[in-house]
Amino acid sequence: MSGSIGIFDSGLGGLTVLKVLAEKFPQESFCYLGDIARLPYGNKSPETIRKYGLQILKFLKAQDVKALIIACNSASTVFLGEEDFDGIPLLNVIVPGSRAALAAAGRDKRIAVLGTSATVRSGAYATTLKGLDPLVEVIETACPLFVPLVEEGVVGDLITELVALRYLQKIKQENIKTVILGCTHYPVLRGDLRKVLGPEVRLVESGEVLAAELRELFQNGTVPASSLGNTRQIRVCITDLTDHFERLATQLMDPEPIGRLEKVVL
Ligand code: DGL
Repeated sequence: MSGSIGIFDSGLGGLTVLKVLAEKFPQESFCYLGDIARLPYGNKSPETIRKYGLQILKFLKAQDVKALIIACNSASTVFLGEEDFDGIPLLNVIVPGSRAALAAAGRDKRIAVLGTSATVRSGAYATTLKGLDPLVEVIETACPLFVPLVEEGVVGDLITELVALRYLQKIKQENIKTVILGCTHYPVLRGDLRKVLGPEVRLVESGEVLAAELRELFQNGTVPASSLGNTRQIRVCITDLTDHFERLATQLMDPEPIGRLEKVVL
């Protein structure tokens, strides 16, 4: 699929990014890879996450993509500062997410980051945010139970609310109003998180920030945009095939049709 955009995550989470990009760029084709055979990434070491990430980038490059998107915060932390992979523009979520959060917070320089253990342990958001604005105050919270809840489809459920209450306690106590959803699985829990945090909290999501970043790359010519009227294709590849994933992926991408899932070997 020549000239498509390659995008990857450990599982379902990156589909929250793919959905936004598919809506905003209707003429573009996408090739998504969900590494569900090795999910979760969030409790693995940086070395392992990087090894998996490199295998996936090689796979996507072989699909003849024109841009590569790491739609996984945990993987983004181990590719920070790398702007291309073998000459293909490489986007990650940490820097654009940090910029968007600072813009959203305005003069209230307090930002909370929710992420996997790997993302929080890396300190990537705190370092990036402070690099952009030394006066910012950052609270990072690892929320390791959120990913399995999403992958199991336990959304809008009392269990999820109780887990959220536990993880978000400090953010609520300190009345922090800007929260980076530093894991692409978390937008699936948007409703559950808002229920606990309140409707006025600003949630910064990877899909939106990547869309803005990609638009910039199209505008400055770094990535050639596909011509209007192009028949687009959305391929979803996974490293393990289960009915369960297929059902949840279809629900998550609705109304965008994803066709038949392709099981691939990396
Ligand atoms: N969705 C991924 C992220 O953004 C990680 C989920 C996992 O732990 O595999 O960090």
